[in-house]
Amino acid sequence: MILKPVKRMAYLPMPVAFISTLSADGVRNIAPYSCLMPVLRPLDLVCLASALKRDTLNNIRATGEFVINLAGLDLADKVIPTARYSPPEADEFLLAGLEEKPSVQVKAPGIQGCYAWMECRLYKEYAEEEYVLIVGQVVHLEVADAVYLPDGSLDVERARPLLMAGSDKGMKYCTVREAHRFEPYGALFPGGKDPVAAGFQE
Ligand SMILES: Cc1cc2nc3c(=O)[nH]c(=O)nc-3n(C[C@H](O)[C@H](O)[C@H](O)COP(=O)(O)O)c2cc1C
Repeated sequence: MILKPVKRMAYLPMPVAFISTLSADGVRNIAPYSCLMPVLRPLDLVCLASALKRDTLNNIRATGEFVINLAGLDLADKVIPTARYSPPEADEFLLAGLEEKPSVQVKAPGIQGCYAWMECRLYKEYAEEEYVLIVGQVVHLEVADAVYLPDGSLDVERARPLLMAGSDKGMKYCTVREAHRFEPYGALFPGGKDPVAAGFQE
């Protein structure tokens, strides 16, 4: 089947992360963002694609900080309350009934009940007419002990990461059920040695 190019997102299950920020006046804001990716494995950068009319974008520009909160399926009912338009002066923690998790390196609070938190500082932005790519540097990364496996991976069956597959009419929430097969990064390189392995040792 050949489809319209704009439907590309439907075939790429995407994370639904909650971005928490503070406004210049200290108002707490939350918005779900799915257009999110890490920038290359050995780096500590992440990239968000943002529309222009977002309190999230204004807050990141004003404070230089944000937190990426990674949630499980159990927080799916918080997506719409945080995605619906609300004025910049509205406290979206109160609005969505979410508790804050104090951050370590940034002023913006994280969200309780998520399974991982990336505290970020604005590294660079690439502004276009219709969107902005926000590149953040992760300055503090934390994962709930209950979903951390000894090999440094996520216990996906416990965390049940909240993802979504788009459809013509809306979002289908989904998750990852099992780790299918393991391949070491070294398998990508001649000699089987991963050149950036040292950077991943705690
Ligand atoms: C599942 C989901 C994913 C979304 N992903 C993005 C995104 O990646 N970028 C974006 O600009 N808006 C995205 N949105 C829309 C914003 O969450 C929404 O416009 C929100 O009201 C913005 O809040 P803010 O003005 O407080 O920042 C998404 C909405 C949903 C429901």
